[in-house]
Amino acid sequence: MEIENSGMIVVKTTAKLTALLDRNQRDGKQVGFVPTMGYLHEGHLSLVNQARQENEIVVMSIFVNPAQFGPGEDLDAYPRDVDNDTKLAASVGVDILFIPSVEEMYPQRSETVIKPGPIANVLCGASRPGHFDGVLKVVLKLFNLVDPDHSYFGLKDAQQLAIIETFVREFNLRTTIVRVQTCRESDGLAKSSRNVNLTLIQREEAPVIYKALQLGLSAYKKKNSNSTIKKIVANYIESESSGVIDYVQLLSYPSLSTEMKTDEDVLLACAVKFGNVRLIDNIIM
Ligand code: PAF
Repeated sequence: MEIENSGMIVVKTTAKLTALLDRNQRDGKQVGFVPTMGYLHEGHLSLVNQARQENEIVVMSIFVNPAQFGPGEDLDAYPRDVDNDTKLAASVGVDILFIPSVEEMYPQRSETVIKPGPIANVLCGASRPGHFDGVLKVVLKLFNLVDPDHSYFGLKDAQQLAIIETFVREFNLRTTIVRVQTCRESDGLAKSSRNVNLTLIQREEAPVIYKALQLGLSAYKKKNSNSTIKKIVANYIESESSGVIDYVQLLSYPSLSTEMKTDEDVLLACAVKFGNVRLIDNIIM
């Protein structure tokens, strides 16, 4: 176990992590957990800031989870910079940073599949079959290892958040899921680790996504139909950029149903590909 200057402990094995976070050793201290795939940006740091305010102990994990990447997806191209991440995590007051290897997280061939329900068949789940099976698998393992009181997830991944909330509720997991607002660049582009893979031209174009969502929001406020709103968003992205739309969708949130429910919010979400870089964003209305 390595102790950084800030007092942050970097842990690489599940055995050390569970020993450190043993409930009997915690003295009733609240543990806040921020799971990530690294290449940290302000979005991740805002999760830590909120966790820092609400818990005595803050744990972050950095693990690029192969189980949530399909064949031909960007597992190898996913950006990584563990040294810089370690400095950033220490600078925002993470107490325990868990950075396991793939062998540590998946020591044997995995026999069990966790399948979310129809909530995972829309949006990113429709374009990335099996993606949310992999997310739930690693999230359950991490929850079991960290045993957090509160777990922090960003609303940029609104579908992931809804699926995890459902999973926690249906399986009586003892953590409370905390939703954190999307962090944006000054031009509106949602912060994402994948932004670094955009070319200069794609980076200039990518803010069209948020502008298009804003147009969708004003059309929604003017009581346009769902199909008109979707057309407005898609037309703007297509006419103003080289982005290729994967989906533009309006769904009831968090049930992700096409039938709008009066007791739920409305999610306007889209996924757009710039070259090989797939970006997602949304507005909850
Ligand atoms: O949102 C992410 O970064 C990942 O999907 C998560 C939740 C860390 C699981 O690998």
